[in-house]
Amino acid sequence: MDMWKQSYEQLIFLQDRSVGLKAIIAVHSTKLGPALGGCRMRHYGSDEEAVDDALRLAQGMTYKSAVSGIPYGGGKAVILSHPGQGPREALFQALGRQLQKMQGGYITGMDLGTSVADMDWIRLQTPYVTDTSGSLGAVNDLTATMTAYGVYLGILAALKRVFGTESAEHRTVAVQGLGKVGYQLCRYLYHAGAKLIVADVDPVRVQKVVRDFRGIPKRTDVIMSEPCDVFSPCALGGILDDQSVSGLNCRIVAGAANNQLAESRHGALLHDKGILYAPDYVINAGGIIVTAAELNGGDAAVAQQNVEKISGTLKDVFKTADAKGLPTAVAADLIAEELLGI
Ligand code: NAI
Repeated sequence: MDMWKQSYEQLIFLQDRSVGLKAIIAVHSTKLGPALGGCRMRHYGSDEEAVDDALRLAQGMTYKSAVSGIPYGGGKAVILSHPGQGPREALFQALGRQLQKMQGGYITGMDLGTSVADMDWIRLQTPYVTDTSGSLGAVNDLTATMTAYGVYLGILAALKRVFGTESAEHRTVAVQGLGKVGYQLCRYLYHAGAKLIVADVDPVRVQKVVRDFRGIPKRTDVIMSEPCDVFSPCALGGILDDQSVSGLNCRIVAGAANNQLAESRHGALLHDKGILYAPDYVINAGGIIVTAAELNGGDAAVAQQNVEKISGTLKDVFKTADAKGLPTAVAADLIAEELLGI
């Protein structure tokens, strides 16, 4: 994705000094429906970095909803963690007041660094929030589980294309990041007979996957260059850059992390290296599909049926890439942009 060829509908710098809130809300597009996308809270090196994160993530959400066939647009909120900010309840209620002013043009939810409790604080001020206590996505961590399921189905579709069989049996998958999604992905892969090599900065999470799914632990600084069939990034975005792509030792990259390509040209670099890339926003759409089901009054079964369509969506991306001789990352963008009329 090239952010600069995009236009954004709204970029809001929200400051509430009384509670120490500094936040950015980016609404990329509401063309196909209200903008959906979670609220992230983290420390940023600079305000520019936070803006860049919000813009890139909001655009990714537009593309993700479009290719997933759900009637929503894309947006994202980021809260900048900084010393001296007020209690969480005050921060999230202040954000909720802003969402209420936006009257549903942007609907938020949980993301990195935010919790169900935070969404409950927002809910005190506005209905335009998902992932609150008791909601479809929040119960049994369905959002993360369905995200992992979609990534798993994406991995199977990619294996079929590369090796001719849609099976993970005896395939080696290197999973980077064993949090909510990474752990569930390991569960699906383990039960499908895959061999797992795993890494996380948190040793407790590593031990859990070693114990539960016979994961073979590796250091975080080597997991990307381990020989494997599939490398699955499930931690941070921006990890596929010149250096890391040249060190990859896999046939497929398919994972949950958002915005895996440091720059859009890294999609072409993977292609040139003969590595099949399953575009992140195509296969990690399980979470947003659950959110869409929740907003439309659907249940877990409806959400799962819709997540199962990810496999077909990815196969369409592969077909377009073949037909036009494009890297898969470019083919996915093309499909999304056609749907959006960009
Ligand atoms: P999480 O915060 O539960 O897990 C992330 C894990 O990555 C943590 O265990 C953390 O210790 C680990 N980690 C951080 N830096 C690392 C490094 N350098 N090397 C190895 N491990 C590292 O987050 P979650 O929910 O599992 O999400 C994972 C990724 O998937 C994120 O990029 C997120 O944006 C993306 N995603 C998540 C969705 C969801 O439903 N939770 C939906 C779509 C995308």
